[in-house]
Amino acid sequence: MKKVIHIVGARPNFMKVAPIHRAIAARTPLQQILIHTGQHYDVKMSDVFFSDLGLPAPDVHLGIGSGSHAQQTARTMVELEKVFLEHKPDLVSVVGDVNSTVAAALVSSKLAIPLAHVEAGLRSYSRHQPEEINRVVTDRLADLLLTPSRDADANLLKEGLEPDRIHFVGNVMIDSLLASKERAEQLPVLKSLGLAPHGYAVCTLHRPSNVDDPRVLGGLLSAIAHVASRIPVVFPVHPRTRKMISEQGLGSAFERNPNLRPVDPMGYLEFLVLTSQARLILTDSGGLQEETTALGVPCLTLREQTERPITVEEGTNEVVGTDPDRIREAADRALNGQGKKGRVPEYWDGRSGERIADLFARFLSVEQGSLRAVSA
Ligand code: UD1
Repeated sequence: MKKVIHIVGARPNFMKVAPIHRAIAARTPLQQILIHTGQHYDVKMSDVFFSDLGLPAPDVHLGIGSGSHAQQTARTMVELEKVFLEHKPDLVSVVGDVNSTVAAALVSSKLAIPLAHVEAGLRSYSRHQPEEINRVVTDRLADLLLTPSRDADANLLKEGLEPDRIHFVGNVMIDSLLASKERAEQLPVLKSLGLAPHGYAVCTLHRPSNVDDPRVLGGLLSAIAHVASRIPVVFPVHPRTRKMISEQGLGSAFERNPNLRPVDPMGYLEFLVLTSQARLILTDSGGLQEETTALGVPCLTLREQTERPITVEEGTNEVVGTDPDRIREAADRALNGQGKKGRVPEYWDGRSGERIADLFARFLSVEQGSLRAVSA
């Protein structure tokens, strides 16, 4: 039986792999092995997603943990090489743009194991963003480039990648959202937080460029405090951000303002309820820009650029940067009912996992020499 290895490592990976894993099990005779690198390890950053998404427990857990980029990537590579040599997969599938993604891409390529990259072709064109380096390297190495939107195809072609490696499959993360929405709506999340539907905002921040510099983080917190002077703001705080807020003594922004409500990172289903009923979302996350577009909820992206321009061109996303005045102004507009409206992009339809499963099955049933000739 042909074997596919899936790599997950950090929080945004789990909701992308779950639909692919499910579709492969339902539609193909492929054997699947799930490897968790352990890049994220807190229960609330990892374990809860397996149960929320119906993802089976990993077959292998590498326990890599935190570290500098070089340490984390290198440790992952050393451990993955052993696992790949032992299991001899026919295909390695990686998702997204985290350090675990690029580590697996490097190891599989050097062992001459075919590589698929799900969410290929996204570009912020900022090499200051660590994820951009991970995307560029992974795409360069992948045999199958599975893209979430047509702009991603165009980016890959512009970089000279062969058209027959590129397959537009849609946004697999939206598969998870659509499959989970009904189940999530049963949870009493708003009630337990004392919130009214559409009567609150949600904020998330975790990009190093936003949270590692106290001046930038302080400015963002002041803009968010302004939003909280108008409407409750629920702020699930990422561990990196929590650490910086406490080290930099910025916690007073929360103490002064009871409407600004820090909470622990939330599980997938709980957070989906919270975001789907929000009036406004402020974030620097990539995934949340896409989820708000799928949900039709206005989103302000607190970064200078996005690698997901379709969420601006077609969806509800507005890229407002990190200048506190500009954020306040955009938030006021949105809260006054002038938030961005949009439509759901092509192939964000809950069936991307199926397209990927079918593509993997076709890819693996052809001769090694003509693997790249498979077309979607
Ligand atoms: C990583 C990804 C980023 C993704 C984000 C989602 C890279 C380069 N970055 O960033 O693309 O958007 O995940 O969350 O891969 N920590 C904990 N518990 C955990 C994990 C992390 O406390 O379970 C803390 C540690 O102090 C760690 C820090 O968070 O040093 C950063 O973790 P790391 O995995 O290096 O990057 P993220 O900022 O989470």
